[in-house]
Order: sequence, then C-alpha cells, then structure tokens
Amino acid sequence: MVPSKFEYFGSDTYDQERLTIFKNQENPVKILAKFQGDWMDELDTAVSLATKAEYTPSEFHPEYLYVVPLFKHPGKMPKLEKMARLLGFEKLSISNVQMQRPGCVISKHTDPAEQFENPKHKQVIITLTAGEHGQILGFNNHIVSHWEPGTVMYTDYPNVWHFTANASWHTRPILLIAGEINDTFQSLLDNNEPTIFQL
Ligand SMILES: [Fe+2]
Repeated sequence: MVPSKFEYFGSDTYDQERLTIFKNQENPVKILAKFQGDWMDELDTAVSLATKAEYTPSEFHPEYLYVVPLFKHPGKMPKLEKMARLLGFEKLSISNVQMQRPGCVISKHTDPAEQFENPKHKQVIITLTAGEHGQILGFNNHIVSHWEPGTVMYTDYPNVWHFTANASWHTRPILLIAGEINDTFQSLLDNNEPTIFQL
C-alpha cells in the first residue's frame, strides 16, 4: 500500500509536535575522549569475523548491519579491547564493532530504560574511521557527521532519541561499548575537555 502524505508507518502520524519537540534543545552528546593511533589492522580482523546482526532496534534494512562482539574473540582485537579498559569499563555487557553498510538505516529510537536501571551502567560509541560524506548520527535535534576516528561519544541513551544512517559509499564501523563503569569513566564525564589517549 502506498503511504498517505501524513501517515507513513503504521499508526504513527505526522504532526507539528513531532517536528518541534527538540527545538532549542542543547547538544545532548558529550565527547568524553579521543583515541589516537592506528587500529586499521584490527578493523580488517573485525571484517573477517563479522556476522549479520541478529538484533536491531529498527525494522528498516537490518540485513545491512554486521557485528563483531569483542568478547567472543578475546585477544583478536587488543587495541579495541584496550579502548574499553582505558575508558573505565569493567563488566562489559555489549562490546560490538557495528559495521553499517551503505543503505542501512537504524531509525529513531531510545534504548530500553531497564538496561540503565543500574546508575553504574553506561554506554558509549567510539568512531573507528573518519566520518565520510553521507554517514550521520542523530541525537535529539543534533546531527553529527564528519567525525574524527577514535571519538568517544556519550549520551543519555534511554532518554535521548537517536538514529544512524549510512548514505555513503563505504561501510561505517563504530565500536559500541556498554557495561559497568568505574571512577575513571566518571572523571571523564566530569572533565570539560575530552581526554586524549594514545594507543
Ligand atoms: Fe540505541
């Protein structure tokens, strides 16, 4: 069925509130840290180990998302594992290299609040390549693009609407880390400037 002009998906309706809900909101993303170094060889390893994502918060094009959980391949991508440790993650619940192929869209969503009931449970994404033309992340009304490799982005995932789309010509890898944090992570959160880590 061809969607009507104002009713695109299911019962979701187009209304003015949806267009203005984020107006004037501050940037909800904090850059916690930046990693400098060369981990391209580990990206090659990740590509060789990637499998099609079994989960996705979106019904749109899940077939184009490939993932590699680091904990399933201990020691194979030591620099990426080190990133999680340096940020102060202890018990990891998610440590996925997410390879979003061209055409893949993870549509807007918030993450389930139950996953964040423990105040020590935090989540970040780390860009693993430079953001190319067409690769975007959205957090509420704030669009992120053309990022540097190794940028660590934090937001309040259960309360901030977010999405990602890859309209570029190349696969976009990011590292998604979630788990229990220690005081190191808290000090990164408290700092005004991103901390630089050399790998
Ligand atoms: Fe999410």
